[in-house]
Amino acid sequence: MTAYVVRGARVVGGEPTDLLIRDGVVEAVGPDADVAGATRVDADGLVALPGLVDLHTHLREPGREDAETVESGSRAAALGGYTAVCAMANTDPVADTAGVVEQVYRLGQAAGLVDVQPIGAVTVGLAGERMAELGAMADSAARVRIFSDDGHCVADPRMMRRALEYVKAFDGVVAQHAEEPRLTVGAQMHEGEWSARLGLTGWPAVAEEAIIARDALLAGHVGARLHICHVSTAGSVEILRWAKSKGFRVTAEVTPHHLLLTDELAAGYDPVFKVNPPLRTDEDVAALRAALAEGVIDVVATDHAPHTTEDKECEWPYARPGMLGLQTALPVVLDTMLEPGLLDWDTVAERMSRRPARIAGLTDHGHDPAPGAPANLTLVDPAARITVDPADLASPSRNTPYAGRTLPGRIVATFLRGEATVLDGKAQK
Ligand code: DOR
Ligand code: ZN
Repeated sequence: MTAYVVRGARVVGGEPTDLLIRDGVVEAVGPDADVAGATRVDADGLVALPGLVDLHTHLREPGREDAETVESGSRAAALGGYTAVCAMANTDPVADTAGVVEQVYRLGQAAGLVDVQPIGAVTVGLAGERMAELGAMADSAARVRIFSDDGHCVADPRMMRRALEYVKAFDGVVAQHAEEPRLTVGAQMHEGEWSARLGLTGWPAVAEEAIIARDALLAGHVGARLHICHVSTAGSVEILRWAKSKGFRVTAEVTPHHLLLTDELAAGYDPVFKVNPPLRTDEDVAALRAALAEGVIDVVATDHAPHTTEDKECEWPYARPGMLGLQTALPVVLDTMLEPGLLDWDTVAERMSRRPARIAGLTDHGHDPAPGAPANLTLVDPAARITVDPADLASPSRNTPYAGRTLPGRIVATFLRGEATVLDGKAQK
């Protein structure tokens, strides 16, 4: 196994120091961190972060390998500074049995670029009617702890209650896609001034907020863990603040795109900006940034959602919702949160690594580079600027909303259990 000496890295933004990485762990930190024969990595000016952890990634395998595979998505993740991703269950077949989650888990191991932790479906086929085999998925080789029908809301409150009761037994968590389906029939974009002008059916903020309020109450009643996927409105933030003040075990994520982009982008009818939940208003973006700074929103999760050109480049109403996110997440967070002073490096590490690792129960991840810690880390150059070119991305899909945009932060290297998955900005497999 290769040993690495990383020279002059600013660990979580601190003073420059050296790191010795050997046998899967950070063996030493400081001036003595050296060993003969080690591969030297010049980290002058680079910040070392605990490897990023994504709670919400769509890898599309099995079923839509033309859009993404476990391997291509793992490569995108490593290039984005991630060492672990949680793979959403809305594949084809759906990840609603031990067999499918084990398949995804093994494909992740075979790719070997990040730890792929499968998420199990809450209901069979994401249909909302019968509960999936949560216990069998939890007991499987994939050891599933997060369950979600993402893409669909668990709309039936009785089903939601039962799922919360079930996962409580093994400290699992239900990750809810909060969208009251009766309020979003035919919805194409955020309901507001722009949907009225463009003549597209609106997706009202209340459809999200009503489900978050309901499920926070259910989680409080049951005493189980609830996680809210891709929070997108200012009103949701207020409900989450209230739920946390009551001591309910509720956590929440925001996506990079909801921290940066707004509904006005729909004006060109370019479906690259179609996503679910939809891009909202400037006021929502400001509230989401403030909530992430404050910790009312716990984590950034990408909702990386690859779609083929055929599924994406058509008229707005027919286009699938979703955006690529893994390779641009950290740059967007640096742009929207770090550079304006809303987060510092420590809170970036908290929101993108430590806290998501704890929510997912990924005990090898979310550790700052320190002696004895598993060597899951990433090196980023905060002074560099990247210009996003869809053709450069690792996914076979091209649906990035940031094409041509310049963002701060270049991921230079990523290490998974002491092995470099990325060096000099290039994937090593
Ligand atoms: O925009 C989205 N795309 N939102 C979801 O909830 C699902 C995802 C997908 O699977 O494409
Ligand atoms: Zn979703």
